[in-house]
Amino acid sequence: MASPHVDVDDLIATLEQIRKRGHSAHSVFRDWVELMLYALQRRDEPYLEILEDYRERADLDQPEGQRSPDLFATAFGQLQERMAETDADVLGAVYEEYGMSSDAFGQHFTPHPVCEMMAGISGIVDDSETDGRQTVLDPACGSGRMLLVGGRRHPEALFVGQDKDPLCAKMAALNCCFFNLDAYIVQGDSLTIDYQRAWQTTHSPMGGSVRELDEDETEDLRDSLTGAFENTAEEVAPDDAGQDSERQKEGESVSVSTLSGGEQASLLAFDRDQ
Ligand SMILES: C[S@@+](CC[C@H](N)C(=O)[O-])C[C@H]1O[C@@H](n2cnc3c(N)ncnc32)[C@H](O)[C@@H]1O
Repeated sequence: MASPHVDVDDLIATLEQIRKRGHSAHSVFRDWVELMLYALQRRDEPYLEILEDYRERADLDQPEGQRSPDLFATAFGQLQERMAETDADVLGAVYEEYGMSSDAFGQHFTPHPVCEMMAGISGIVDDSETDGRQTVLDPACGSGRMLLVGGRRHPEALFVGQDKDPLCAKMAALNCCFFNLDAYIVQGDSLTIDYQRAWQTTHSPMGGSVRELDEDETEDLRDSLTGAFENTAEEVAPDDAGQDSERQKEGESVSVSTLSGGEQASLLAFDRDQ
């Protein structure tokens, strides 16, 4: 995406103001992500439940505008501003930087320039089970950064991300909504095809929306995506493997169905020339 380094200092300073009132960095970040996700779905009950914890603490003495719910809202505004300025995965950048200060969470995602480079050199598209629609898959999507880069190149595609970490799955769902992509984000282990929760984000000219799928819808999604993976796996002929690597060396684009199981499940559904 556009910016190799996203400055998130002011955003972290806002979250820090909340943390200093007796919370952990992990719980502040997790609650901020969940508040945004519930707000976008207009789910008042779980939203207010999260805020209960912040009303009981050192919040009551704070002036209006400085209470924790106000600061969470301020951080949401700062996030939107920074995304508008950079067109980058700002949420993931906050997670990376803020997580470094905590033992409870934190990891690094693929740097933006590497995402761009991977998107530029790959030519892999799977349209096997989606009525010819290009599908971009990331079975270990983290904050969804790869999907967002894919969305810039193929805004018309369907994006599917999965992560076993609940916080990462929620960040990816938020990001796909913010970046106005048609996407499904699954919380669950990709290796065991375990689907615990799932969200759908929908593109519209007015901006993206997000909703959590119910149990039946999640099960249906699991069946259809598992079918898509099985079909591409069946198409892989062992004898083709050597030829595929030769073709890649020669610079031809390949389809997902020609890759090995592990590679097949990886993202990289972009056209070489874009
Ligand atoms: C380094 S991040 C990569 C994120 C993203 N693909 C990127 O390039 O920025 C690895 C992610 O894989 C997830 N992960 C690891 N094993 C997984 C599994 N079996 N199923 C789903 N997600 C997994 C982790 O939770 C973590 O968020």
